[in-house]
Amino acid sequence: MRVEILHASKYGNGEQVAKELQHVLSSKGAQASVHHIDEVKAGQLPPADLYVFGSPTRMGKPPGGVRRFAKKVDLPSGTKYAIFATHGAPQPDKKTGKMPTAEEIAKWQRTTSILDEVLQANGLTKVADTIVYVTGLKGPLDEGWQSKVEAFAERILGRS
Ligand SMILES: Cc1cc2nc3c(=O)[nH]c(=O)nc-3n(C[C@H](O)[C@H](O)[C@H](O)COP(=O)(O)O)c2cc1C
Repeated sequence: MRVEILHASKYGNGEQVAKELQHVLSSKGAQASVHHIDEVKAGQLPPADLYVFGSPTRMGKPPGGVRRFAKKVDLPSGTKYAIFATHGAPQPDKKTGKMPTAEEIAKWQRTTSILDEVLQANGLTKVADTIVYVTGLKGPLDEGWQSKVEAFAERILGRS
């Protein structure tokens, strides 16, 4: 199975996730390549059986460049895709010490659903998604991120 991993990491966390995913997929027998979206043309992606899109989050959404890239993707209808989104880990309110509610958290975590909408309108078929947390606004990745990537790889390969 050939997998193309396309990410839009700015501070390097998503790039680390993309490279770890490449490593895990390769160790399980797939052929995986990693590219930043600035290095490839959305309309001329290298051939693959499945495309993984990795996006950071700004104000609850994928950055504009990622949305534009997803809109321009030009692949045969039914092509499989998966998404990983990196998010700031929910933190307790500085004044009250209370954790945000599930509803509040969801407002700041719309990256996956927005990209799903764009990619599915473009004819792609979803296989898996995952969220990976960073502990500060710019990182580092939260503890246990490698196990999330491992489980994500299993779902991509249809083994769980
Ligand atoms: C200006 C700014 C706004 C952000 N807004 C959000 C947000 O709304 N929700 C969220 O989960 N993370 C937010 N983050 C954290 C980013 O998701 C985090 O920087 C990113 O996932 C790191 O990925 P990268 O290292 O691959 O660029 C924000 C970060 C910055 C710098």
